[in-house]
Amino acid sequence: MRYIKDDLKNKTILITGGAGFIGSNLAFYFQKHHPDAKVVVLDSFRSGETLSNGNLKSFGHFKNLIGFSGEIISGDINDKDLLLDLEVNYDFDYIFHEAAISDTTAQEQDLMIKTNVNAYKDLLDLAVAHNANMIYASSAATYGNAESPQRVGREAPNNVYGFSKLSMDHLSREYMQKCDINIVGLRYFNVYGAREYFKNTTASMVLQFGHQILAGKNPKLFEGSDKILRDFIYIEDIIQANIKAMMPNTSGIYNVGTGKARSFQDIVDILQKELGTSLECKYIPNPFIGSYQFHTEADIATTQEALGYAPAYEMEEGIKAYVPEIKRIYETEVK
Ligand SMILES: NC(=O)c1ccc[n+]([C@@H]2O[C@H](COP(=O)([O-])OP(=O)(O)OC[C@H]3O[C@@H](n4cnc5c(N)ncnc54)[C@H](O)[C@@H]3O)[C@@H](O)[C@H]2O)c1
Repeated sequence: MRYIKDDLKNKTILITGGAGFIGSNLAFYFQKHHPDAKVVVLDSFRSGETLSNGNLKSFGHFKNLIGFSGEIISGDINDKDLLLDLEVNYDFDYIFHEAAISDTTAQEQDLMIKTNVNAYKDLLDLAVAHNANMIYASSAATYGNAESPQRVGREAPNNVYGFSKLSMDHLSREYMQKCDINIVGLRYFNVYGAREYFKNTTASMVLQFGHQILAGKNPKLFEGSDKILRDFIYIEDIIQANIKAMMPNTSGIYNVGTGKARSFQDIVDILQKELGTSLECKYIPNPFIGSYQFHTEADIATTQEALGYAPAYEMEEGIKAYVPEIKRIYETEVK
C-alpha cells in the first residue's frame, strides 16, 4: 500500500542499513511505490566478524536486496571519509537511518556507542548539510522494564543497546532545537516480517517458532511464557510509520507498536493454527532474567495524532500474512 501522495520525483533517498531487515523493506517500498525516486542503500553487509556473544557484528545480506535496482554502497557509517564523500557527491532529500548494532544482547559498549550514537551525529550533520529529513530507528529498548504502557519521557534502559538508542534520542532533540530540518525518531517495538531471516538468532520469535514448528520440533518457550507480554509489530506497519514520518513538521520521537501486548504463547498458538499443527510446547528456564522486558505495550496516541499512523495488523493478521514467507524461507534456506 502507498502511504503518501507525493511522487518523490527527483528526490534522493539514503537508506543506511538497507541490506538489513527493515532497511531492505524500505528500499523495496520505494522501488515499488515511488519508482521515480533515486534510492541509495548504504550497508556494511556481513563480513563474518563476530561479537563476544558469538553473533555477527553486522547482519546485512545481499539476498535481502535481490531484485532491488537502486544504488548500493558497501561501507561503514563509522567511516568519516565515506560520509564526507556522501556529503560532496550526493544531495539527499531524505535519510532513513536503520544501520546499527541491532543486537540487544551485544556487550561491546565501545562499539555500540561509537556505531549507534557517534556515527548518528555525523549522519545528522550530513542531513543538516543537505537540508534533508532525518527519519531514524530508535527502539522500545529505551524503556527497559519501565511501566506499561510505555510512553516517551519514561525511559529506563537496562542494556547498552537501549542506552545507545536513548542517547540518539537526546541528540536528536538537541538538533531539533538548533536546526531547521525535520527529525523523526521511531521507537520500534518487536518487529517481525519478511527479510528478517538473516538476523540469525536475533530474528523475531515469530520466525524462529515458525521454523521449529515446520521442522516438526516441539516449540521451546521460556517458563511463564503466557505472562511474558510484548507489543509485536508487523513490518508493514513499520513501513507505514516511516513513510508517514516523511511529512513536514513532524519532528519528534514516537512509539511504533500496535498498542497491544501479546504473549509468546500467543505467537506459538497462532502459528500452530495457521500451519495446521498441534505440537506440544516445551518450557525451559529463562536465562535472561534481569535484562529482559516482561511487559511492553506502546502508547501510540502521539504517533497517531502527529503522523496519522494507524496500525493495520493485529498479531493474528500479521502472522497470517507472514506464514507463506516463513514457509518459503524454510524451504529455500533452512531445509
Ligand atoms: N527489528 C526490530 O525488532 C527492531 C526493534 C527496535 C529497533 N530496531 C532498530 O531498527 C534498525 C533496523 O533493525 P533491523 O531489525 O533491520 O536490523 P538489521 O541488523 O537487520 O539491520 C541493521 C543493518 O545495519 C547494518 N550495519 C550495522 N553496522 C553498520 C555500520 N557500522 N555501517 C553500516 N551498516 C551497518 C547491518 O549490516 C544491517 O544490515 C536498527 O537501528 C535497530 O536497532 C529494530
